[in-house]
Amino acid sequence: METSHNPRNGYTIVSQLLSSPVSRPDYQGALGRVGRRIEDNRLRAVVIKEMALGIKMIRLSNGMPCPDPLPITGAQFSLRDGTVVTMDQNDMDAITSYNYCEGIQELRNWLTELTRLEHKPPQLEMADHPEPFDLTITNGSTDATRGIFHIMLDEGDSILLENDVYSTTIGQIKLFGANPVTVDSDEQGMLADHLESILSSWPQTHPKTKRPRVLFAITSCNNPTSYTWHEERLAAVYLVCRKYDVIILEDGAYYFLQFGERKRSFQSLDVDGRVVRMDTFSKLIGAGYRLGWISGPATIISRYLRSMAQNTIHPSVLSQLLVYRILHQWGHERFQVEVKHLAAEYKKRAQLMVKALEKYCTGKSKKTIGC
Ligand SMILES: Cc1ncc(COP(=O)(O)O)c(C=O)c1O
Repeated sequence: METSHNPRNGYTIVSQLLSSPVSRPDYQGALGRVGRRIEDNRLRAVVIKEMALGIKMIRLSNGMPCPDPLPITGAQFSLRDGTVVTMDQNDMDAITSYNYCEGIQELRNWLTELTRLEHKPPQLEMADHPEPFDLTITNGSTDATRGIFHIMLDEGDSILLENDVYSTTIGQIKLFGANPVTVDSDEQGMLADHLESILSSWPQTHPKTKRPRVLFAITSCNNPTSYTWHEERLAAVYLVCRKYDVIILEDGAYYFLQFGERKRSFQSLDVDGRVVRMDTFSKLIGAGYRLGWISGPATIISRYLRSMAQNTIHPSVLSQLLVYRILHQWGHERFQVEVKHLAAEYKKRAQLMVKALEKYCTGKSKKTIGC
């Protein structure tokens, strides 16, 4: 199958990929030592049983705070459109207690539907896909990336990256003792031919190190370059990843802020279930709520959740409930209106900035507005 970038057969690459048979990744082999050995902590194991049985247990082991003497009994949040979101005593009981690692079920359902509408992941579209799709709420993309690295990267592992990557991600990779391997990239994304040459020559060029099993990419409005991948590149890189059984971590922080029609994501082409996608509410509702979502193959998501259970336990229930109420009130149609309005606002500001740069910095800077 064609794997290199070829403008004449771009449509063919995408459609060939979408109609190709599933090549199920070796998830166990892609996990690091932590990901392979991590188990459900004992408290979470009880919660999982409770969910499976569909019953509500009285749990004496969790260190649940008694809600009665706690100081906050309700809250109100005013929205820019004049509506008010109210939290009553029932909500406060949920907020003051521990909750599920996965996050609030209604919010997970809403975001799964959003993912289905927006990306149409083949894992969700195909009735008989061998790997279930899962989606869980996170404390934002930074923590989701850390959690994924925690289960996937060992000290000394290599990870494939674009030329330019969000500096915090680079910091996290270094913290885990992994080696960033840069694949040549341009305004349309990563070059599949270079990726192929790195992976095919791996044992000779990098003796004594494992061939990378993970690729990280910011496919829309990259920070710092602002570039958005072309769909042919996504497909070509995906096919190389399939050949060498690489798992793709897709950071979609700016996906909804694209100027104009939104471009395809890796998730939309994920026939195999090899894409783990991180999204965030930081640019849509606010960064301080520390809320996002991660989605993709259930095998990887379940390990991520085990790691979360041992670290932050779950994202803020207040943030989840508030964001869910807003999304529920809006519905999917209004959500689209809101994010388009946001993107238009950023476009105006970007144009203003370009004008100012042209006026004051001509000859001193390189202008790129890729979104
Ligand atoms: C590419 C990219 N990913 C992730 C983040 C952080 O997202 P969050 O606030 O959800 O941690 C940022 C923040 O600027 C970013 O630029």
